Amino acid sequence: MVRVTDLDTFSALLAPEGQELLAVLRDHDPADELAAATRLRRDHPAPLVSAALGQARLRQRAAAKFGADAARMYFTPNGVEQSTRATVAAHRAARLAALGVRSLADLCCGIGGDALALARAGIRVLAVDRDPLACAAARANAGALGLADLIEVRCTDVTEVDTAGYDAVFVDPARRKGVRGGRVFDPEAYAPPLSWAVGAARSAPYAALKIAPGVPHEALPEDAEAEWISDAGDVKEAVLWFGTGRGGARRATLLPAGDSLVGAGLPDPEPGPVGDWLYEPDGAVIRAHLVADVAERVGGRLIDPTIAYVTADRLVPTPYATAYAVTDVLPFNVKKLRALLRERAVGVAVIKKRGSAVEPEELRKKLRLAGPRSCTVFLTRVAGAPTMLLGHPAGERA
Ligand SMILES: C[S@@+](CC[C@H](N)C(=O)[O-])C[C@H]1O[C@@H](n2cnc3c(N)ncnc32)[C@H](O)[C@@H]1O
Repeated sequence: MVRVTDLDTFSALLAPEGQELLAVLRDHDPADELAAATRLRRDHPAPLVSAALGQARLRQRAAAKFGADAARMYFTPNGVEQSTRATVAAHRAARLAALGVRSLADLCCGIGGDALALARAGIRVLAVDRDPLACAAARANAGALGLADLIEVRCTDVTEVDTAGYDAVFVDPARRKGVRGGRVFDPEAYAPPLSWAVGAARSAPYAALKIAPGVPHEALPEDAEAEWISDAGDVKEAVLWFGTGRGGARRATLLPAGDSLVGAGLPDPEPGPVGDWLYEPDGAVIRAHLVADVAERVGGRLIDPTIAYVTADRLVPTPYATAYAVTDVLPFNVKKLRALLRERAVGVAVIKKRGSAVEPEELRKKLRLAGPRSCTVFLTRVAGAPTMLLGHPAGERA
């Protein structure tokens, strides 16, 4: 619920006195917030000082998503949480621009995370949201980043918007109940529901629809290409693409490099014995169900039919998986592991697990590591049996 006072306070931040306060708070240390508030309240109205401090806090939180731009941008608490990180938005915008999209309706624009990236890719954007404060922030962001000529913000319900005449539609439904409300998993509980978003997407020549990366594959529309995107190894989101001529395709894209793997529809690879190398596929590859494609590239097999680790006898570098040299394959046994790591003077162990109920941090305590060397320990299953694999990343000495 937006109160008029929220909008008034936000507008006051854009006026000269608000701008002056935001400039003062630009690089302020959050630990000094109380002192800064007391000092600033001597010369400025208390509500404006509070609003500026709140905005400065949001900018600091948003830097992880928007980098240096965050210091010039405007946020709402929900807007920071729900906005697309700049790297992912730029990737999607570049793909739309490459398809020839020149105008787009951004349905559910929030504070404008996607709209800004789309405009930077040269696309004219109609940015729509029903939250007046989000719209005010989106408008301010377009101005702050010099993109106002390309972004028109309209505050209304997206179901009221006529998108005819736009080359593309982008929909990013709300998937959280609120900052502390947790996430919404059922796609029909998205606001607006996924079925509405798919209908809107199908009505445009091209469309992209952002969804949660954990969405079950059975829920995906057959005519959509689905892309899972990770950034620095963390899966960030999934996108449904319409109009790309690749309906049914599954794709994994890894940022920041931008490597993109399109599935060939391969059957699951056969499991087999652990070889000299273990490949840990990127999360986007796993979510996109493209482990078989990575196994084929490295001439590998699964270590277990239910585990997404690939093993092979050769090292074949691939951006889609991290390779490890395997030094030991042993039945899971804490005492044995402790003795082995002691013997090898391992003081630093990276403990990874897949298909094991063991808690890595609990195990770490029991290992009482000491020594100058490092090791990667995989707690997993091989042919159904609890197993520990020891090794080190390719290129690092044991
Ligand atoms: C996930 S956020 C969008 C984030 C945005 N793409 C960004 O990167 O900043 C979803 C937005 O949908 C808006 N929304 C939800 N249902 C809506 C509706 N029926 N009409 C307009 N906006 C709606 C919410 O107000 C919220 O701002």
